[in-house]
Amino acid sequence: MKILSIETSCDETGISILEIKGGIKNPSFKILADSLNSQIKIHAPFGGVYPMLAKREHIKNLPILFARTLKKAKLDKSKKPFDLIAVTSGPGLEPALWTGITFAQETAKKYKVPVIPVNHMEGHILSVFGNDKKEFIIPVSSSKNKQTKINKGAVNFPILSLLVSGGHTELVLIQDWMKYKVIGETLDDAAGEAFDKVARMLGLPYPGGPEISKLAEVGRKSRNTVFKSIAQADGPSIAIRQQADMCGFKNSIPAFYCIPTISLPRPMMHSKNFDFSFSGLKTAVLYLIRDLTKVNPNILEDDLPAQAGKIKIQIATEFENAVVETLVHKTKKAIEKYNIKTVIVAGGVSSNKYLRKEMKKMVGPDKKILFPEKKLATDNSVMIGIAGYFRFLKKGKKINSSKIKAEGHMHL
Ligand code: KG4
Ligand code: ZN
Repeated sequence: MKILSIETSCDETGISILEIKGGIKNPSFKILADSLNSQIKIHAPFGGVYPMLAKREHIKNLPILFARTLKKAKLDKSKKPFDLIAVTSGPGLEPALWTGITFAQETAKKYKVPVIPVNHMEGHILSVFGNDKKEFIIPVSSSKNKQTKINKGAVNFPILSLLVSGGHTELVLIQDWMKYKVIGETLDDAAGEAFDKVARMLGLPYPGGPEISKLAEVGRKSRNTVFKSIAQADGPSIAIRQQADMCGFKNSIPAFYCIPTISLPRPMMHSKNFDFSFSGLKTAVLYLIRDLTKVNPNILEDDLPAQAGKIKIQIATEFENAVVETLVHKTKKAIEKYNIKTVIVAGGVSSNKYLRKEMKKMVGPDKKILFPEKKLATDNSVMIGIAGYFRFLKKGKKINSSKIKAEGHMHL
């Protein structure tokens, strides 16, 4: 069968067509065509996604992407080009979700096919099995022996999924395919949201995650060399002396000895449950910047001597350390408690290289850890098609396509 899948939960308009063969026992997925339109440039000046603007853009993009996707898949519009439409119905921004749902319903009427609503987070979980280049299989029917063979090797249950995106930070226990239990979640900001907000405080563009990550990578690689070269090039310039003051050395020490240690909290890291909190960390960055700019109002500006960049790099590095440490620590605790065999890390923040590295290190060689391919880590419609297929097999007959509603806070 062929599935048309649609994603409009946030600021990406995605439409793809998947071809699925092999039935439930051995379903083999192939991406016939995949189109994605990112609205990042439009939302960037606002430092975050503006729901009504997202809605307007989705409405504009959907018909264009639909035509383009059919053409790429070499499917004839005049015949019945697909058998099912899968659409994200939540969680997400409701005005944005509605655009996808309405488009799906209208298209379904025209081609006389059913529509299946998909939970965006289920899409993220299943995204780790996707493959952008080749066919991939996910035989969900064969999990009775608690092991399923997929392209990436056998997957053993129970699975633990850490979902980290712009709107969610959740630890999900998966005892069997399609059966989810959220065992921990953020009590305030999501990890991606914290990345975006802190990036904004540092004057970095939206989305902030990749920007902070780039700085943090520099910070980790060249901590010492950067400091030395600044001191050699500048001598104890005013800015560096100010920094020396902050370190408590009062001009009496060459600048390169004075590496101010920026330290940020790891909120709830040692709490007994599996919940997260990132808003305190964000506020800590806010206060830190406030205090630093009291000493030097231009401390974050890029056109100052390398000194300024240095502070940004340090904040970004320590912030990323704090987020990653917290995520890794809580995941480790959950792995131990539930005797987890396979770990899935998905959602936009799962693109973060440092998170991937630290997670792999923590999980070790005895357990499997799966991440999505880079292209499938952030929002996309391929993952909605995958989840839509399994939802259809499970619930297809019971769903009334015309009654599908947007659910901004839909749970797994
Ligand atoms: O899953 P996603 O594309 O959209 C939602 O469903 O929210 O996730 C977007 C989030 C943004 O907050 C973005 O800053 C973050 O993922 N992100 C990253 C990285 N790439 C994207 N965060 C940290 N490091 C990255 N490399
Ligand atoms: Zn997402």
